[in-house]
Amino acid sequence: MRFSSKLPDVGTTIFTVMSRRALEEGALNIGQGFPDYPIDPRLAESLTAAVAEGRNQYAPMEGVVELREEIAAKLERSYGRALDPLTEITVTCGGTEALYDAIQAVVSPGDEAIIFDPAYDAYEPAVRLAGGRCLRIALSPPAFGVDWDQVRRTVTGRTRLIIINSPQNPSCTVLSAADLDELAAVIRDRPITVLADEVYEHVLYDGRRHASVVAHPELKDSSFAVFSFGKTLHATGWRIGYCVAPPALTRELRKVHQFNTFSIVSPLQHAIAKYLAANPDVAAGLAGFFQAKRDLLAARLRGSGFEPVPAAGTYFQLVDYGALSQDRDTDFADRLIREAKIATIPLSPFYAAPPPMTLLRLCIAKQDATLEAAADRLCAFAARQTRA
Ligand SMILES: Cc1ncc(COP(=O)(O)O)c(C=O)c1O
Repeated sequence: MRFSSKLPDVGTTIFTVMSRRALEEGALNIGQGFPDYPIDPRLAESLTAAVAEGRNQYAPMEGVVELREEIAAKLERSYGRALDPLTEITVTCGGTEALYDAIQAVVSPGDEAIIFDPAYDAYEPAVRLAGGRCLRIALSPPAFGVDWDQVRRTVTGRTRLIIINSPQNPSCTVLSAADLDELAAVIRDRPITVLADEVYEHVLYDGRRHASVVAHPELKDSSFAVFSFGKTLHATGWRIGYCVAPPALTRELRKVHQFNTFSIVSPLQHAIAKYLAANPDVAAGLAGFFQAKRDLLAARLRGSGFEPVPAAGTYFQLVDYGALSQDRDTDFADRLIREAKIATIPLSPFYAAPPPMTLLRLCIAKQDATLEAAADRLCAFAARQTRA
């Protein structure tokens, strides 16, 4: 059969590649972002109850109303805004579906979307499938700060979308309220929509507060904001996320959603709704929970040759291996799998044109014992390098 690929250069994601290599080599996988500890048993019980109660048929296309009401209540607590669950909140298959739907809703053939490297890998393929193209702005380590003059210079008459991600995976940095003001100024009076990937909204460290587009006086009117219960409830396999956007954008998003997934697993939505009703402040402890893990890992690695780069948010931690090797990060990461039996995620695959750097991403959403074992293996590997 003859056909031409729409994404000829897209291969398997770096997460799948590294997880597969970890299995092949029997390595401890602290690369891909998923918890290795159980979900709250009350959430599990809530799911069993939802199935037993017969919540097993199609959910409403927009999402179970009780869940959207809980989401609206949560958003009001977090961002001080009363959102309409009926017209401004849509439940999706993870944050990933929300990103895809939003991109399909606003990007047409020939349009441009601006994204910031290192960029989460779901953005560009979705833009290209919509017929658009990405203009990628590279952020430089270790600060990964946005140069807003460069953004202004990158905007053209064809720019329709700017995708931001804060807290940012994989740089572990966050955008400030001032950054959002700059962004608002960039899109003011232009036909540009913002897609804000905020799946790590609750994981900011050292007392930082999340600057959400949902709470921004201007951006709230021209943005899709994407969230994920996978992150908030430590349940990445449940694949439940949601998108918050003003009614006009939500209408367009739902046109894609209804022919993409149509509606999302019914008992899971009911289970989360009941669980949130009974435990409304479940997200309040997340930052402290992950900060303790970040600090545990960083304390063990400091001075080893895998130098922790200060992380402001997300459930990842970057380490700089520059003192041990100047090898390319993808090569070095593969060597770590073979020789240290540790799988990590290199940063260069998240760039179109990677700057020189020696950084690896570790996932801290792991039991303390896993993080300690990972640190021991990394330290032992580093000690072998310095002896050699
Ligand atoms: C930055 C970012 N956006 C979106 C997602 C996707 O979220 P979900 O697993 O809910 O689809 C992830 C998951 O790792 C992520 O790190």
